[in-house]
Amino acid sequence: MALRRIRIERIGSREAFNQFARLPYSIYAGRDAWWPPDIQNEIDLLSGRARIAAHLDLSPFAAFSDDRMVARVSAVVNYRYNEHWNEKLGQLIHFEAMPNEADAVAAMFDEALTWLARRGMNAARSGFAAFLDYPYAIDNYGELPSFLLRGNPDYYHSYLKNARFETEKGQVDYTAPLTPDLQERYRRMVEAAEAAGVAIRSWRDYGFLAAIDAWTNVTNGAFIRHWGWNPISHEEVRPMLAPLQSTLVADLSMIAEIDRSPVGAVFSTPDLSGSLAMIRAGVKLAPERAGARGALINIGVLEPARSRGVARAMAAQSYLAMARNYMRFAGYTLVLDDNWPSRRTAESLGARVTGNFVTYRRSL
Ligand SMILES: CC(C)(COP(=O)(O)OP(=O)(O)OC[C@H]1O[C@@H](n2cnc3c(N)ncnc32)[C@H](O)[C@@H]1OP(=O)(O)O)[C@@H](O)C(=O)NCCC(=O)NCCS
Repeated sequence: MALRRIRIERIGSREAFNQFARLPYSIYAGRDAWWPPDIQNEIDLLSGRARIAAHLDLSPFAAFSDDRMVARVSAVVNYRYNEHWNEKLGQLIHFEAMPNEADAVAAMFDEALTWLARRGMNAARSGFAAFLDYPYAIDNYGELPSFLLRGNPDYYHSYLKNARFETEKGQVDYTAPLTPDLQERYRRMVEAAEAAGVAIRSWRDYGFLAAIDAWTNVTNGAFIRHWGWNPISHEEVRPMLAPLQSTLVADLSMIAEIDRSPVGAVFSTPDLSGSLAMIRAGVKLAPERAGARGALINIGVLEPARSRGVARAMAAQSYLAMARNYMRFAGYTLVLDDNWPSRRTAESLGARVTGNFVTYRRSL
């Protein structure tokens, strides 16, 4: 067998960014259904133009085999994360690779990890970085994942473990069927919270722009010690969420108040597969995967208001709004295996685990 010529490049040109951002097409485009990348968004991040880039030192690497791009990864130092946790953790985001390219992938990881070590990092994580990356799927291979989540091929795990990564955290994705029985249960949850003095309003009723700011404050407070999280600013969240004002997000997302002060927030989306996923003509996916699946993406309750049914009631209200808008299933997306308050919340909504994921880490 002829030896392939492997080359690792730290990329920097606009054309290379474009090729980097498009690599997923070579890996996933043969599937019946997948979520294609937002190319412009990714190029903005790679070229340092995205707002979040101000907090990052980021270097994209690509592996070429006989001049064909076969793998990519970006090494990132997230200064805001490291300050918040007082760590020296580097991140490997954007990882994608073709099959049967073990040598090229190993060489690429070497370069990226060396880049992190040279910047003083003593560990590297791959699979979760707030607003930058999502964990690796360990089941449902080949199927359309929930919105935002990875549907990576199974062989990614061997690439990562051969690069000496260990599983750092497990994460789960839940699905609830929005049956009449469960909807009845949700109504009772909302009533119980209201009777206890909790007011829950959709972002539309609350005022969408005010709700964005309330969400940012509640999320920063609720997630302050949540693994993987770093604080975020109003300046970056406002332009990210404001364009969603006229969409169903405004009806499905919730703010909870006690004594007129926001104590809880939920961000939910409708089924976006029709507008954002690539689904091969003629392919009919199960309704819990596409077409009738709303998604609760984020939920947080400030510490003093916890264990009083606020999360349960906000999620219940969001799911009732999904049901009114013809969704038959609801996701409860991405919970750490050991986050029992959140898992209990999902379970009390009648949701069951339908997808499993991992985040990797190795020392440097
Ligand atoms: C997860 C979180 C939103 C739950 O909020 P909450 O308002 O306290 O939850 P609720 O009072 O509605 O309780 C919901 C369920 O969780 C259970 N629960 C709440 N706190 C718990 C705790 N500390 N340990 C175990 N179970 C707990 C409740 O008993 C209830 O289950 P049940 O219906 O079977 O009794 C809140 O703890 C939080 O903001 N955590 C930090 C951010 C976070 O982890 N968000 C979720 C990311 S996936």
